[in-house]
Amino acid sequence: MKKNIFITGSTGFLGGELLVDLSKRNEVDKIYCLVRSGSKSKAVQRLKKVFDFHGDLFDPNKIIPIQGDLAQEDLTETLCENKLLEDVNYIVHSAANTSFSPIYDKMVVDINIHGLQKILSWSQKLKHLETFVYVGTATICGKEATHRVIKEDESPNLNTEHIVKYTYTKMQGEIEVAKYLPKEKILIVRPSIILGDSRPWVPRSYVIMWTLATLNFLRLVPSNGKILLDMVPVDYVSDAITKLMFAKRKHLVYHISSGEKAATTSFDIGNTIEKAFPGLPKFNFVGYDMLNDMKLWSKKRLNKDSKLNNYKEYLDYWNSIMENTGQLRILMAGLDPYIEFMELGQVFDNSRLLEEEIGVVQPKPAHQYIKNSIHLLKEIDIFEAALEP
Ligand SMILES: NC(=O)c1ccc[n+]([C@@H]2O[C@H](COP(=O)([O-])OP(=O)(O)OC[C@H]3O[C@@H](n4cnc5c(N)ncnc54)[C@H](OP(=O)(O)O)[C@@H]3O)[C@@H](O)[C@H]2O)c1
Repeated sequence: MKKNIFITGSTGFLGGELLVDLSKRNEVDKIYCLVRSGSKSKAVQRLKKVFDFHGDLFDPNKIIPIQGDLAQEDLTETLCENKLLEDVNYIVHSAANTSFSPIYDKMVVDINIHGLQKILSWSQKLKHLETFVYVGTATICGKEATHRVIKEDESPNLNTEHIVKYTYTKMQGEIEVAKYLPKEKILIVRPSIILGDSRPWVPRSYVIMWTLATLNFLRLVPSNGKILLDMVPVDYVSDAITKLMFAKRKHLVYHISSGEKAATTSFDIGNTIEKAFPGLPKFNFVGYDMLNDMKLWSKKRLNKDSKLNNYKEYLDYWNSIMENTGQLRILMAGLDPYIEFMELGQVFDNSRLLEEEIGVVQPKPAHQYIKNSIHLLKEIDIFEAALEP
């Protein structure tokens, strides 16, 4: 029998791909989508846009909007009262507030933990629920695990420290799911860092890609270029999740990651960018220690003895491409947490996923697949992106 799905976050980067991929699966009948919107017609428009984005077919009889907001007090009751939803078999919870900025911490907790609890309370009442898919993140491992391959069973670990509140809430989310539902109804998928799309088209979101555009702009990078980075394209993540959903699985939690074999480095990504944007200063990875000095330069307070003065060619270049040094301050504020993550050198073991024999193979490393869309870096407004990291 065909399955009915309820999905959250389908207007987002990953959720949009998941919605389109699920709509193409033979196993799927109706897909109910929780959408934030002022009216039903606007909700339909938002969902249609998800399909139009890459020219996919939108079937209004199959894709059904459910107006709602994870911040809404009465969300559980509203979902419980909706008779349409009684036949839901799968819930895919992809919605989250993914902000790294501390100014959104309260909202991040409210959406990622309290919002999830509302969906979970409703899910407990569903008679036909088979699987609750929680889209987590591999970065819940926190910041103590560095420069090594991390396995699924190492998380969640309540003792670990987090760089940003977001990863803490995603960790707590996994704990909440286990409190509300029995193991046999849970599937936890933990993508690593989702960077762009491996297909030669505009990805649904420039999240993370804007950091590459910023590095391309600066060329002098305050990080160690040789550290391994675990990045995967959104189409790979969506494909793996949909395949796992309908497979007989051996495990409850899966990394969806590059693993060691397909990991990349900033240095390799820099090489790819350099080839696509010739004629600019060469990439130079000068180490994380230099971040503070770059911030001081942006405030015109750089010490004369700073090693950053050895890179005069780059400082002159920055003066020539920026209206004022304050622009660097904006970029650095946005980049800071991302560079901190990059410096951790975390690689997430993907052998569980690859061993499932569901047709998910090793992804290509990011510096290879990103060639397909590297030209898009010039479309990204890096200053706007840095203000909303
Ligand atoms: N991107 C990554 O690198 C990455 C890596 C690992 C894991 N993940 C996980 O993957 C999932 C999707 O991330 P993403 O990058 O696709 O995020 P995204 O593009 O920011 O999308 C977030 C989605 O959540 C919805 N949402 C946010 N607040 C909501 C609320 N109050 N009520 C209802 N819906 C709300 C958004 O709806 P609106 O359109 O209305 O704003 C949007 O559809 C998240 O759970 C994230 O933790 C992402």
